[in-house]
Amino acid sequence: MTPLIQLTGVTKILKGQKTPRTILDGVDLTVHSGEGVAVLGRSGSGKSTLLSLVGLFDRADDGQYLLGERDITRLPERKAAALRSAEFGFVFQRFFLLKHLTAAQNVAMALVNGQGWLPRRKRRAKVLSALDRVGVAHLAKHKPPKLSGGEQQRVAIARALVREPKMLLADEPTGALDTETGNLVIDVLHSATKDGCGLVLVTHDWEHASRMERVLRLEDGQLREVAV
Ligand SMILES: Nc1ncnc2c1ncn2[C@@H]1O[C@H](COP(=O)(O)OP(=O)(O)OP(=O)(O)O)[C@@H](O)[C@H]1O
Ligand SMILES: [Mg+2]
Repeated sequence: MTPLIQLTGVTKILKGQKTPRTILDGVDLTVHSGEGVAVLGRSGSGKSTLLSLVGLFDRADDGQYLLGERDITRLPERKAAALRSAEFGFVFQRFFLLKHLTAAQNVAMALVNGQGWLPRRKRRAKVLSALDRVGVAHLAKHKPPKLSGGEQQRVAIARALVREPKMLLADEPTGALDTETGNLVIDVLHSATKDGCGLVLVTHDWEHASRMERVLRLEDGQLREVAV
């Protein structure tokens, strides 16, 4: 089966300092449909850098990037931005919800930005279904300041899922949560893969990592498989 994404020999060199520094040094990463992949690694090892390349926020200095069968290694920025919003959903440590909007309105924002205006009824249905998938449909009308951290992160996950992305990219999504709430958020993220979505989860938490189908460690600029 063709992987959802396949990065080969990806290199990222940080310039702009006295001496250029190689952050990623020939990284290979393949994610299939329905697969959750954890990326561990010490602080500063380049995990967020890698996610920003996968999510088309940044471009590698060397290597190849295939999205399905399409070579997107050297995509012009405008096309990359379109692909980013169509095919990827992002979840971060901080939730980045707009606090004057309700949970439903926060999720709807992702639809407005990515696909233009859908008819109101369709938009509502998509938003409610995304909130329902992460178990917070009952909080649709609540504003973020009234929600717990775990609830806010679930709304943020609904926002990432509402466009039905092929890939979900999560950078330490439990970093701001206690263990129990974190476990719940990981469950919610992993359950998204049941619908065929791919997931890359950056985490410091071995327990969370080991719930994924594969665990990789980023070290010395390279990704290696870790036995679970
Ligand atoms: N914009 C930037 N300018 C300069 N250095 C940067 C920049 N972005 C990242 N770096 C450096 O690149 C290296 C990798 O950073 P990155 O944020 O990818 O690490 P990380 O594994 O995500 O760390 P953490 O676990 O702390 O989030 C670090 O040494 C960091 O200082
Ligand atoms: Mg990071």
